[in-house]
Amino acid sequence: MTDLQAIRDQFPAIDGETVYLDSAATTQKPQAVIDCITNYYRNQNANVHRGTHSLTALATSRFEAARETVARFINASSEKEIIWTRGATEALNLIAQTYARNQLQPGDEILVSEMEHHANIVPWQIVAEQTGAKVVKVPMGQGCQFDLNVFRTLVSSQTKIVAVAQVTNVTGTVLPLNDIIAITRTNSQAIVVVDGAQGVVHQPTDVQALDADFYVFSGHKLYAPAGIGVLYGKLALLEAMPPWHGGGKMVEKVSFEGTTFSELPGKFEAGTPNVAGALALACSIEWLSQYSHTDLEKHICALQKRAYDALNQLDDIQIIGYQPGASVITFVMDGVHHQDLATLLDQQNVAVRAGHHCAHPLMDALGVKGTVRASFAIYNSEQDVDRFIAAVEKAVDML
Ligand code: ALA
Repeated sequence: MTDLQAIRDQFPAIDGETVYLDSAATTQKPQAVIDCITNYYRNQNANVHRGTHSLTALATSRFEAARETVARFINASSEKEIIWTRGATEALNLIAQTYARNQLQPGDEILVSEMEHHANIVPWQIVAEQTGAKVVKVPMGQGCQFDLNVFRTLVSSQTKIVAVAQVTNVTGTVLPLNDIIAITRTNSQAIVVVDGAQGVVHQPTDVQALDADFYVFSGHKLYAPAGIGVLYGKLALLEAMPPWHGGGKMVEKVSFEGTTFSELPGKFEAGTPNVAGALALACSIEWLSQYSHTDLEKHICALQKRAYDALNQLDDIQIIGYQPGASVITFVMDGVHHQDLATLLDQQNVAVRAGHHCAHPLMDALGVKGTVRASFAIYNSEQDVDRFIAAVEKAVDML
């Protein structure tokens, strides 16, 4: 059985003072990841793929080994399919501005679920504006589910891109990706883009089995630092795409007569990359892999259920879009602004997120301006949940 207390003890920020329930916004970092970053800057800092001295050679080999770790983690068929980005948002913008901008024609359609984070809506709106294509909303179904029947009616030969999350960040809805991809393949020539930012930490991901064309995620929701993320793309698609940012490393030969570009993955990695971030992301993946994923998820889901059962007893609290077995719980208090409730929780050292969670269309579909969201991670405990519930009860009495 996994020693959960031993895991919790490895997170210096989880010190017993603050109950941190905002891991869906960003997770805290284990000491191993913090040490990895410190060690790189203390002992190994050098630019990569540039120069010949020993430090740069070491940094380059560790940087490329980190790419291999990520490729293995999501079962990519080659490390050339792994492009470092600043995060999921940058990866989605890269796809929109390289693949989509060159493929879309006026009248083409991009199907986007209504439950998406803004990062998986706005890049498509921008490229639709640039190309004359159209963003078509896939309305949310009953119980905050993805409605496959509605989706089926929307996919047609005009559909060129389907963009969906693996798991949504507000309700924790798990999208039926296998069905979405099968329906897309049967009814169109469209590619499928999956935003794994919220899902990658909770669901083992095999991009070859999934058969998505692109899959993106961020390090910072996976116990790694912010500023590093991953774009996975099928090799043939990435090879056919033009570069995005121009600069150093993404070129083979530059001249004023014309420039030729690097092979993958360098073609999409202009400028000095976030070497420490890449090493830390690989470190966090390796650190996590020593534990049973099943045990960790069971623990998180049990905490979410404990919170749900207790919140459900409070007459003034309305739970919105609860998904059993997810890592988040989203709620409002009748007649009270979500920000006021979150502020009262903060005053009792309970950190939750309040607001629209970068999902305005979902808020509109739910008929709310915003919500309070508590999200659970491997370092949380039953005592955290109980302190959270006690804080909510006190806030309810005060409001
Ligand atoms: N997307 C992050 C969240 O859900 C920031 O809070």
